[in-house]
Amino acid sequence: MKVLVTGGAGFLGVRLIRALLAGDGPMGRVDAVVAADMAPCPVDDPRVTSRVGSVADAAFVAAAVEPDVDVVYHLAAVLSGQSEAEFDIGMRVNVDATRLLLEACRKLPKPPRFVFTSSLAVFGGPMPEVVPEDMVLMPQSSYGAEKAIGELMVCEYGRKGFVDGVVCRLPTITVRPGKPNSAASSFVSGIIREPLNGEASECPVPLDTRLWISSPDAAVANLVRAGAIPAERLGGRPVLNLPGITVTAAEMLDSLERLGGKAARERVALTDVERIKAIVCSWPGAFDVSRPLALGFAADADFDGIVRQYMDGLAHARG
Ligand SMILES: NC(=O)c1ccc[n+]([C@@H]2O[C@H](COP(=O)([O-])OP(=O)(O)OC[C@H]3O[C@@H](n4cnc5c(N)ncnc54)[C@H](O)[C@@H]3O)[C@@H](O)[C@H]2O)c1
Repeated sequence: MKVLVTGGAGFLGVRLIRALLAGDGPMGRVDAVVAADMAPCPVDDPRVTSRVGSVADAAFVAAAVEPDVDVVYHLAAVLSGQSEAEFDIGMRVNVDATRLLLEACRKLPKPPRFVFTSSLAVFGGPMPEVVPEDMVLMPQSSYGAEKAIGELMVCEYGRKGFVDGVVCRLPTITVRPGKPNSAASSFVSGIIREPLNGEASECPVPLDTRLWISSPDAAVANLVRAGAIPAERLGGRPVLNLPGITVTAAEMLDSLERLGGKAARERVALTDVERIKAIVCSWPGAFDVSRPLALGFAADADFDGIVRQYMDGLAHARG
């Protein structure tokens, strides 16, 4: 089994590659992984080939899509904050590069499984409390619009038999280690990570804002499953809202206090940032995920468990 992961040096890409190489998931044994990213893939394993370049470059994509690839995970993307601020870059990477990659896959002797990581940012406008599977797409950001275009392309290339496409709409993933990033949702990790590391942080949205979230481990396990699930089990509906849990910003801060103490909670200042609110508060806070759950996809048990996952990772990194 050979797998290509674009964005293979990123937050989820690295974790996905490690999970694939562990070989104990539904995909079984993976013999080779090609990681295509602007940055070198840090996974140190002889089965990994790191290709450094841009997925917006047709020659790079043609070389990265090797003729015997079985599964393509397309994770490389410009995230929500940058897509909104730099329209042309967002369109080039999130839309044009997705088409380049699909075209390269179309030329292969056997259509590969093509897993596209989309986002709940494809939704917006008036929405019910719990978003059903057939909710109309109404993105309120460049990122959401670009992901929606990508979804349609993957479905159309799938319908034509050029790829075996699966679209995974990921919840917001938290707690993300490291530094804040260019996603509008960056604070969803920042309000836990920074206080636990003794640093100040800001919550820029109202405390009753509902967020649909997943831990990195749950998201990666679901992506592995998406790479392996037989097409017939999807019943002609290859777009999946991956399971998550609904938490409010207030509930997240309660968890922070429970697990990190009162001092950690006090490091979070409540602010009000229109630019962030306009994007994040347009996203749905809960989904009907009965079909993905029946297909074997899974969600975290609760938010405390997500915080513990991060704290365990910290403890491990510190030795
Ligand atoms: N993390 C989340 O909360 C979340 C939520 C919903 C959807 N997603 C989607 O999941 C995917 C992975 O997200 P992530 O959190 O790992 O992001 P990330 O920013 O950590 O990783 C993205 C990777 O893509 C690479 N990349 C960007 N432009 C590129 C280009 N032109 N050519 C090659 N590589 C390029 C970056 O170098 C980076 O390593 C993305 O498609 C993202 O839109 C993530």
